[in-house]
Amino acid sequence: MTKKTGFFKEGDNLKVSATGKILHSSRFKFRGELQTRSSSERFWWNMSAVALQWTSSISRRPLQVKSQHKTGSKGFVGGRKYVRCAFSELQCSTRNGALAGKVAIVTGSDRGIGRFVAEGLVAEGATVKLSCIDVEPARLAAEELNAAYPGANVEVTPRLDLADLSSVKEVADWFLAEETPLDILVNNAGANFFPNPWYTSAGIGGCAAVNFLGPYALTRRLLPALTAGESASRVVTVASVMHRFTRLDNPERFLRDWSAGGYRACKLAVILFTKELQRRIRADKLVAVTCDPGAVFSGIWATSPVFGKPPMLWLLKACYAPIEDGAQAPLWAAIDPEPVPGGYYARGLFACPWLASPPSMIRAGSWAHQLVGLFCSLFDWPFRWILFGWKWIKQCRAVATAPVADDQKLAAALWDLAASAADLH
Ligand SMILES: NC(=O)c1ccc[n+]([C@@H]2O[C@H](COP(=O)([O-])OP(=O)(O)OC[C@H]3O[C@@H](n4cnc5c(N)ncnc54)[C@H](OP(=O)(O)O)[C@@H]3O)[C@@H](O)[C@H]2O)c1
Repeated sequence: MTKKTGFFKEGDNLKVSATGKILHSSRFKFRGELQTRSSSERFWWNMSAVALQWTSSISRRPLQVKSQHKTGSKGFVGGRKYVRCAFSELQCSTRNGALAGKVAIVTGSDRGIGRFVAEGLVAEGATVKLSCIDVEPARLAAEELNAAYPGANVEVTPRLDLADLSSVKEVADWFLAEETPLDILVNNAGANFFPNPWYTSAGIGGCAAVNFLGPYALTRRLLPALTAGESASRVVTVASVMHRFTRLDNPERFLRDWSAGGYRACKLAVILFTKELQRRIRADKLVAVTCDPGAVFSGIWATSPVFGKPPMLWLLKACYAPIEDGAQAPLWAAIDPEPVPGGYYARGLFACPWLASPPSMIRAGSWAHQLVGLFCSLFDWPFRWILFGWKWIKQCRAVATAPVADDQKLAAALWDLAASAADLH
């Protein structure tokens, strides 16, 4: 434990575990126990933080500790404090500074899960490039991160529109021109709930273009940088539990027919792509993984005609994990010191055997399996929150994907077709 004297000020951001450990502070680069004069004072500090975390997860208001809490003679947490608590998943905080000198790109990192993935990587010491469709919010996010983490090096890439392959090429060329190895690529950006079917000028379904072809093209174009380092780079693509409840029989139809290239099929396609990438590139050069962030109350639901409005919106607000928590699975997939090449990372109920490897009485993708999925999505966060101290439930680990994601013939066909669609031969 590093001892730090000094005072916390109003406006500091703290990450505090349920047991009172300060995991991260925006001003002080240290982790350690919150020191209090007496154990009862510390107990009440922790209880108020736990209560506020719960309230905040329902109301989405920033956490505020209003009363004054002394930390013995060493420090002081007082006044109106904004405290960010990350009880549920603390693995990523265990390697503070482990990414010093590493370079990472995170797509869709101006908001949502990607924003916190970027922050987690910055906290670990990585140089991070935010690659987003909206450059202005990305600039603001970069400014915030540079201000919050002394010594941070966060910058914004040219505009990245995953549906536009020329924009994908521009971003990749911009990075390749730097001639530095790329250590981590997090393909996080994605979209769901499009109001109407649409196609790119090349006739690719819009959903497949954003969620599959764009990330595929970006990863492939960045391969020279991803394989240039001395140690294995990491490609993390954010998938979803939804890949378990779909099929992808015909890659051509998947890319060009709106009804076959929906969100679920796209998430299955990125897993097929990731496994194929790992088969083509040795794991000592590049480790490709996918992950399931869980059920997260982010902006992705805002455009849904069902989930974007009350009463479903209230249900999601109450049951789904805060965005910060959702970022922990991709973060761990990016920094796991012993990654599983081609693996699919999940945690909590999303890693439970009934969902990941259903027993024979539950056919994969059937209605019964989907009901298990619905149960997991509603109860994963409350369950993890209640059992935050139980390592098994909070730990992110590689679990089985849907069996179809291991279809090598399908993966190779999809790879080739996507290569010609993205002009990558
Ligand atoms: N939320 C969940 O419960 C959940 C569950 C499973 C998987 N996921 C996956 O997690 C990832 C992050 O989602 P999120 O929940 O954080 O949603 P979000 O808040 O909507 O963030 C998605 C990000 O992707 C960006 N994006 C959308 N279309 C893009 C395009 N054409 N080109 C470049 N960037 C684009 C968005 O930019 P704009 O906002 O400017 O459009 C935004 O920055 C997605 O891949 C999603 O599929 C989420």
